[in-house]
Amino acid sequence: MDVTFDMFIETEVPEGEVIISRTDLSGVITYVNDTFAKISGYSSEELIGKPHNILRHPDMPKSVFKDLWETISAGESWSGYVKNMRKDRGYYWVFAEISGVYKDGKLVEYKSIRSPVEREKRIEMQRYYDKLREEEREDWRAVIYLPYESGKKLMEKAKERGVTVEELLGQLL
Ligand SMILES: Cc1cc2nc3c(=O)[nH]c(=O)nc-3n(C[C@H](O)[C@H](O)[C@H](O)COP(=O)(O)O)c2cc1C
Repeated sequence: MDVTFDMFIETEVPEGEVIISRTDLSGVITYVNDTFAKISGYSSEELIGKPHNILRHPDMPKSVFKDLWETISAGESWSGYVKNMRKDRGYYWVFAEISGVYKDGKLVEYKSIRSPVEREKRIEMQRYYDKLREEEREDWRAVIYLPYESGKKLMEKAKERGVTVEELLGQLL
């Protein structure tokens, strides 16, 4: 049986290493350093040319990125806590500082420098973002344990209808 699952494995961002990326003005990645690639689980080649939301974690509220883009497109720098999703669907937390790159006084790109986040702060931000998503009526995160037969039936029904388990649950409600 095909089962998709999340691996909620956290990658610790090492102290004292800088994680850098740059994007064009629409958020397409133009540069990443080796540390960035290593932590995200992608190779530099896989990242360059892709929109930066390739790392977007579903736990991140939309409003955080709205604020980010409003701030940087107004020429100011933005900083905040971001939970990112690795290629293997694990995650890592960073404190990101994002600002413009200027050439002859003209905004040409954006750059981001990231640093590690203390464990206590990660827990606090996870709770805060969960609350924000709920307030903004975004997707719920549900981790459920079902009796074996029910789980099997759910997977089979979804397959029969050619939909995902999430879509099937949506249809049943
Ligand atoms: C320089 C720069 C760095 C960014 N870094 C990240 C990042 O590490 N993770 C992330 O989810 N979004 C990052 N973003 C924001 C994404 O462009 C995007 O807005 C976000 O992932 C939400 O996706 P969406 O706009 O498609 O909803 C960055 C944007 C810029 C300009």
